Amino acid sequence: MARITTKYVCQSCGYNSPRWVGKCPNCSEWNTFVEEAPSPLKATRKPAGARSNIEPVPISEIDHDETPRLQTKMEEFDRVLGGGIVPGSLILLGGDPGIGKSTLMMQLALLLKDSVILYVTGEESARQIKLRAERLQATSATNILLLAETNLDMILDVIERGVPDMIVVDSIQTMYRPGLESAPGSVSQVRESTALLLRLAKTRGVPIFVIGHVTKEGMIAGPRVIEHMVDTVLQFEGEAHYSYRVLRALKNRFGSTNEIGIFEMHDSGLREVRNPSEVFLSERRQGTSGSTVVASIEGSRPILVEVQALVTPTSYGVPQRTTTGVDYRRLSLLLAVLEKRVGLRLGTYDVFVNIAGGVKIDEPAVDLGIATSITSSLRDVAVDSTSVAVGEIGLGGEIRTIGQIEKRVQEAAKLGFKRIIVPQNNVKGIKKNGEIEIVGVDRIEKAMEALLG
Ligand code: TYD
Ligand code: MG
Repeated sequence: MARITTKYVCQSCGYNSPRWVGKCPNCSEWNTFVEEAPSPLKATRKPAGARSNIEPVPISEIDHDETPRLQTKMEEFDRVLGGGIVPGSLILLGGDPGIGKSTLMMQLALLLKDSVILYVTGEESARQIKLRAERLQATSATNILLLAETNLDMILDVIERGVPDMIVVDSIQTMYRPGLESAPGSVSQVRESTALLLRLAKTRGVPIFVIGHVTKEGMIAGPRVIEHMVDTVLQFEGEAHYSYRVLRALKNRFGSTNEIGIFEMHDSGLREVRNPSEVFLSERRQGTSGSTVVASIEGSRPILVEVQALVTPTSYGVPQRTTTGVDYRRLSLLLAVLEKRVGLRLGTYDVFVNIAGGVKIDEPAVDLGIATSITSSLRDVAVDSTSVAVGEIGLGGEIRTIGQIEKRVQEAAKLGFKRIIVPQNNVKGIKKNGEIEIVGVDRIEKAMEALLG
């Protein structure tokens, strides 16, 4: 008699083991193994000897009538996708619970008035969805069909009866295929469900959005194993205490992964933030120490943000270093450079660095802004409030060249700044426009002089 062999599958990475183990040998996560029965769907291999009549096709003979992308008219969203929704694409939208994924999808559906959108919900009842639609002032929308169901085979039946123009599956962790024994949300269910949706998207040419929850560590738990299957992975993120939300493409087969879209959560749904610089600088208090405006680039777009630093004498032995929005290791490095090259003595001070507004910035061009804010706070001298500073700082204290300088200068000029401090080597790459003074610096000491006097 054949033995029924169950296996243990890591719910974080999908690693298989014949026995239960506490720590996954593949991804080193603890306590992630769950017993799963073998998939009966696997037994669909073609019997040996069977012939098929499929033929490979020369690449020259494949016609590619470029089907137009679906424009949502939500500019921030279209840009992140690389210019709209590609028909037949499978898109994963990940993010923490409560961040606004369902709201975003519902608003998109409302904007696509001329398309029929099937909104499959396994998380909320149709009534709850309706309540959300009420908040979004969209209860009269006739183009959105709600389906509160988690059995994918049933959902497929519905779709076969009338193919919509777009499908939203909220969320992939609640969907299941009845043929599989493991619980919804387990790796094998999530994987099989996605494979099914992928086939549906490709054969019917309908775009499908699947929503997936992420864990605290920032990994798309469960759905992480489907990242390679989908065409696009979008991540919706934000800080709990701010209303700003950032949409990023972590993977995109049809566009760049650098673009971000910025939204703000209001009582009546998400609103696009078209002029992020103005928003992020709106609460800046001029004339206080420890604040520098930097011109950062997110994707193809320049954004001015305020880097704040607070340097205070340490009260308990070990000095604290805390960052929000910038890399902690970058701060340690910059503190070391400031000690060595500028002669700041920071060993008995706590240092806090923060990007105002809750944005995260991970490009080295903000180095100069961080260093300036720290120096400004330590000396209690305000940074010239009409200046913007950009530049990467090297270990030798040199200010290194940065990319896309022209855009940064233009954005600073547009917002009325009088002066921009840039790396010396970038100066020749900037067209003079008369509106803003350009000051090139090659050493950190010189930059401090220019900004702090
Ligand atoms: P939701 O879209 O349900 O999040 P997710 O699907 O990612 O879990 O949004 C949840 C939060 O958004 C909830 O705390 C309420 C808030 N919200 C608003 O502030 N304004 C609104 O108009 C809506 C619809 C939600
Ligand atoms: Mg939701």
